[in-house]
Order: sequence, then C-alpha cells, then structure tokens
Amino acid sequence: MSSKITIIGAGSVGATIAYTLSSQDIASEIVLIDINKEKAEGEVLDIIQGTCFRDPISIIAGDYTDARNSDIVIITSGIARKPGQTRLELTQTNVNILKAITPEIVKAAPNALYLIVSNPVDIMTYVFTKISGLPENQILGSGTILDSARLRCGLSKHFHIAQSNIHAYVFGEHGDTSFIPWSGAYISGVSVDEYYNLEKKLGKDIEPIDKEAMVQYVQKSGGEIIAKKGATFYAVSSSVCKLCSLLVSSSESISTVSTMMHGEYGIEDVCLSTLTLVGPNGVQGKVPMRMTKAEIEQLKKSAAALKEIIAQIDL
Ligand code: 2OP
Repeated sequence: MSSKITIIGAGSVGATIAYTLSSQDIASEIVLIDINKEKAEGEVLDIIQGTCFRDPISIIAGDYTDARNSDIVIITSGIARKPGQTRLELTQTNVNILKAITPEIVKAAPNALYLIVSNPVDIMTYVFTKISGLPENQILGSGTILDSARLRCGLSKHFHIAQSNIHAYVFGEHGDTSFIPWSGAYISGVSVDEYYNLEKKLGKDIEPIDKEAMVQYVQKSGGEIIAKKGATFYAVSSSVCKLCSLLVSSSESISTVSTMMHGEYGIEDVCLSTLTLVGPNGVQGKVPMRMTKAEIEQLKKSAAALKEIIAQIDL
C-alpha cells in the first residue's frame, strides 16, 4: 500500500500505533510528530531499526509541514488518563491541546481523513469537528471500536469460539455510559442466547452469559489495565490500525466509530459510536441497526451525558 499516515503525539499510544503500522502493510510512509521532537526521534529510531525484515517503509519524526499529502492523520495527543481518573476529567486539558494542534495540522493536510484517538475521544471528535472547518466525512473518532473488540474478546472466551465469528458491538460513549445492544449480538447469524442453547445441546460445559458482568468487563478493562500497568496502548493501537486499513481499503466497511449524529435514533449534535459505514472516502454515515426501545434509551442517555460535558467545556 502506498498510503501516508501521520501520527500526532509520540506518547505510548502514538508510538505503539507507529510501531504496529510498521509491522503491517497499510502505510508506506509514517510521520510521527510530537511537541517533544527528541522523544519522537527516539521512537522512530527504535521502530525503523526493526524494519529491515519487511518491504521498504519511510518513517520519520517530523513537523507539521511533513504531514503534507497525508491520507490519514491520527491524533493521539493529550494527557493520558491517570489511575482513578475518569476520561471526562481529562477533558478541558486535552481540548486545549487539540485547539493548539488543529489549525497547524489542518493547514498542512486539508484533504486527509482525521482519526481522533485522544480521550475523551467522543468529546475530542466533537471539538475537532467544530473547530477544524473540515467536511464531516473526513472526521471520525476511534470511539467504541476498542470496546467492541473487548466485547468480542470476552464473548470469544465465554463461548470458546473464534473472535472472527462474533458480530457484537458496544455503542455510545467510549466510557462509562457505553452499552451493549444485545439485540444485535450474533455468533455467525445466531443470537448469543440461541448460541448458548446450541452449545448446551452439544453437551458443552457452559454457563448462560452474564450480560451485566460482560458490560462491566468491557467498561472496566481500560481502568483495570491502567491500574495494573499504568496505561493502555496495545489493543487501542491494533484497533486504530484496523481502522486505518478500512480507510485505505477499496471497499467500504462497517465499524463502531464516533461520528457526528444527525438525528439518527433521535440524537443530534454530539459524536458517539453506533454502526458506521467508513471507507476510502471517509465517513459515509451511520448504519441504522434495529434496537429495542430500552437500548435506544441507553443510547440517548449516553448522548445526554456527553452533551452535559460539551456544555461545560470551553470550545
Ligand atoms: C482505554 O479504554 C484508556 O481509553 C483507553 O483503553
């Protein structure tokens, strides 16, 4: 692939994304930009010295002007969540950082697709949409792609079935108000409840799925990892690299990413994750999934929580 990807922020998430991209065939050029140029240079040196085992790839520590002609710009800058800190407590600090970066990067790469990863990601995606002046199809936040990945991981362990057979999603905020619309959770065309019955019939030693515990597993994983090792960066990097591959693919794909709502499920003027059609032309729109009334209410609650934060931040 001959795509050029710029990553802003060489902290653990940005650097791991650069490393993950360097081990895949998604980008032919990677630019890593950080306010601390030496840190970006160190990360690039460390990553590039492992690339002799693959096809040639250009990886540089650059400035904003080096982002020219990028196909994708990934924004990871911001202060990381500390143990015990909620994502929303980070908000104003990270919004201020985003406000400083945006004019510079948009000037250098006005045609790129922008993938926002910094937390709280739904708020950051909203702010970027409001201040960048870019068309909305160029902007998406990683949203709950990571939460959906965690859900698939949890369901895969529970049912002893390959993650690729699991089609189940986490919707809403990437955070405490996210939820699982179980009415859309399938294992290769079979609902998770039916699948449990099937495994039982086959004589497997299996418990019914504890749906509340699964929500907790998904929601608390980030906090648990931060408490145990100080930060999360591997699974988010894999998720972001998967998104990059969708954005440079020749076909469109559906993923749970954060984009601006325009009346879908009765929600507007907030960014959150539901099924979204994305591809080489960026965001094509939300894909309406049939949900129960209660699930739609949960999505509305998530939207309301995000709007409450948006109302408090200094844009
Ligand atoms: C995560 O959920 C911290 O948002 C990050 O891993």
